[in-house]
Amino acid sequence: MSATESVAACRERFPIFERLVYLNSCSQGALSDSVRAAYEAYLTDWYDKGAPWEYWIERAETARSTFARLVGGEPDEVAVTTSLSAGVSALASTFDWNERPRVVISDFEFPTVGQIWHAQELRGAEVVHVPQSDGVIPVERFDELIDERTALVSLTAVCYRNGARLPVEEVVELAHSRGALVLLDAYQAIGTYPIDVQVLGIDFLGAGVLKYLLASAGLGFLWCRGGLSEQLLPTQTGWFADRNIFEMDIHDYSPSPTARRFESGTPPIPAIYAGIAGIKLISEIGIAATREHVTGLNERLIAGVDELGGSVATPRESEQRGALVCIRSTDAPALVRALAADGIVTSDRDGNLRISAHAYNVESDIDAVLAALARHRSLLA
Ligand SMILES: Cc1ncc(COP(=O)(O)O)c(C=O)c1O
Repeated sequence: MSATESVAACRERFPIFERLVYLNSCSQGALSDSVRAAYEAYLTDWYDKGAPWEYWIERAETARSTFARLVGGEPDEVAVTTSLSAGVSALASTFDWNERPRVVISDFEFPTVGQIWHAQELRGAEVVHVPQSDGVIPVERFDELIDERTALVSLTAVCYRNGARLPVEEVVELAHSRGALVLLDAYQAIGTYPIDVQVLGIDFLGAGVLKYLLASAGLGFLWCRGGLSEQLLPTQTGWFADRNIFEMDIHDYSPSPTARRFESGTPPIPAIYAGIAGIKLISEIGIAATREHVTGLNERLIAGVDELGGSVATPRESEQRGALVCIRSTDAPALVRALAADGIVTSDRDGNLRISAHAYNVESDIDAVLAALARHRSLLA
């Protein structure tokens, strides 16, 4: 069995394929048997034991160490949050914008990231956007805007609108040479190709589990480079960020010395059960092998769109793409509806049809979508 055949063998664990062609992992990963079982285990534990908080806290610690392993970090460098936004907002609250007021963000950011940094303008930040041209942002554009007044560069690994990858390592080198820190939004990348925070050289990484990590809404993570958390004091906080959670002290603010200081209130226990199961499953399937498998499917998809006379908004070089391929449409919401009527689940953003294959997709899914696009050719731009 080839590497890609062994990846696709996981398909039987995702019952949705008995009914639908599912190509929407950029929105939500498909539900597996093990993630469903994890939710059932949560209900059983609650039902059987009442309030097993010690065990539930242990589950949160398992989520922390599972995510740390996934990105090549240490458990103490990881905050377990309820969304990417929650972790990034806590991080944003640590900055003093007096000396270095500038935040450089790419034009490919997800709304939450842009909105969080622009909210910091109320506290003195100055946010500048690195513009895209023709669906890409070369490192030179970052070079023009990162200066000695820049505190942070915030960039997405893969753009949710067109699937383009940003030159993360090159931007990190530039930013660090000018004394700026780097936050990577890895949400559209994590689970699609191997990510190692040490190799990337970044300072912070935010992500969540509901897309290519195969779990559900309610759980996110913020990784913070070791040694850096102690220098950062979040004013957006809560009791799970405290040095000693169960001391129950209301007389001071004494945050944890670890990245836990970026946490807030009660952890999202049900989503944590699911998150552990989802990360375990994609890790067993193999993220590097998944990348190879999905790259092959996307080559087939792009060639098919070319043959139909359509056009792809995603960079054509596979190293410049995530797992997502976007196809230009004259009316993307209508095209999504037409495909849905054919039993094919996709999504749209920014005038493009988004098709995102994952480990569980196979060539026949791509052929089904190409056949449907041929039927709806009038909606291709
Ligand atoms: C690139 C990117 N960042 C962030 C998010 C969502 O973040 P949050 O967990 O705060 O909802 C998404 C989800 O759609 C995303 O695609």
